[in-house]
Amino acid sequence: MDRLCVRGGQRLSGEVPVSGAKNAALPILFASLLTAEPLVVGNVPRLQDVATALRLLGQMGVSSRREGDEVTLEAAAVSSVDAPYDLVRTMRASVLVLGPLVARFGRARVSLPGGCAIGQRPVDQHIKGLQAMGAEIHIEHGYMVASAPRLKGARIVTDMVTVTGTENLMMAATLAEGETIIENAAREPEVVDLAQALIAMGARIRGAGTDRVVVEGVASLHGASHRVMPDRIEAGTFLCAAAATGGSITLTGAQPAGMDATLEKLREAGAAIDCGPDWIRLVMSGRPRALNLRTAPYPGLATDMQAQFMALNCIAQGAGVITETIFENRFMHALELQRLGADITIEGNTAVVRGVPALSGAAVMATDLRASAGLVVAGLVAEGETLVNRIYHLDRGYERMEAKLAALGARIERQPG
Ligand code: EPZ
Repeated sequence: MDRLCVRGGQRLSGEVPVSGAKNAALPILFASLLTAEPLVVGNVPRLQDVATALRLLGQMGVSSRREGDEVTLEAAAVSSVDAPYDLVRTMRASVLVLGPLVARFGRARVSLPGGCAIGQRPVDQHIKGLQAMGAEIHIEHGYMVASAPRLKGARIVTDMVTVTGTENLMMAATLAEGETIIENAAREPEVVDLAQALIAMGARIRGAGTDRVVVEGVASLHGASHRVMPDRIEAGTFLCAAAATGGSITLTGAQPAGMDATLEKLREAGAAIDCGPDWIRLVMSGRPRALNLRTAPYPGLATDMQAQFMALNCIAQGAGVITETIFENRFMHALELQRLGADITIEGNTAVVRGVPALSGAAVMATDLRASAGLVVAGLVAEGETLVNRIYHLDRGYERMEAKLAALGARIERQPG
């Protein structure tokens, strides 16, 4: 298994491009199942999760071809409505085929995703919503087996805000008979990006980005072209890395709109931040100030930024309290940061981080995608060498991270394992 070797102490400086958003690209790729016509998706990042999604779609009979950052998909000859366990367990976002399959083909057989490092992550809301729309769904040998002659519009109130739950139900509703209202909907920018792709395909959707999404079902959707939004979590990750190292960087091809919570926290830490329509510049001098932060559904601070901010807090002036409200087990990076000399006390879903003047490099282990990113940020400031093992987690969601960081002056290299 590959690992990253980071030698800390370099201030990051320079310009770095932001890739397309993983969490927008994935639902949009799966939306190709909703039409027999070609869907052209631009700005698709080269990530392991994207490769997994294309492999799953390929197994269903969806053709896809990539030309540069553009992927063209065609679901004219779907031969299978199965999403097998061996793929779903490697990428739980595969559950996003459920809504499109039931909506267009009236049936689906999708493996339950099973547990995940950061939490139990059930999909009961996805099931509940589809059942409200008339789908019959039962669990058989670890699979969700769904069928529906034709979905009917319904008013659905999800028990909690769920991003992929909202996305699955929104996609299903595009071909249902009548109107569907999703209350308590997720407001994430990635949900809005998916809605824009679906509208380009002929869907009738209002309210995406608010907690009430209204979908007027249509008989069929047609092909379209859509360019995926920039990845706000990748962007936030690089900004945290620059702030931690006391650097000065400019992100290009970014989308600062939708990053308010992250940018505000970085300013609170002492960073000077300027933004344009598609760029963000951060300049940090001296040690960051410690931050108190609480993750929350959008527009609150993204849980996907929590590990990166914890790494920043490790070397900040003062003590900061981090509360993780979305997932029940998303502090595993804390145990690895302690190996680098961080002073972190965990109490349930709260971590108290007391900043130390310096971290010292060590071998650490990545446990999940964003934990890996937090460990890289810490390695960039730790004295000496940090070896981040199991970076297949990182490759799921970051395109060429070590090349982008090296271009900003980081001493980082991938060591094949
Ligand atoms: C999406 O996951 C993202 N993944 C996650 O990013 C992100 O952390 C998460 O949203 C929260 O923002 C993709 O978009 C592919 P949820 P998702 O459903 O949709 C509970 C990354 O690093 N819940 O919004 O799976 C759930 O357990 C990944 O890129 C239910 O109980 O998250 C969690 O506590 C990690 N039942 C909370 O809701 C359900 O049916 C929010 O989960 C659904 C969710």
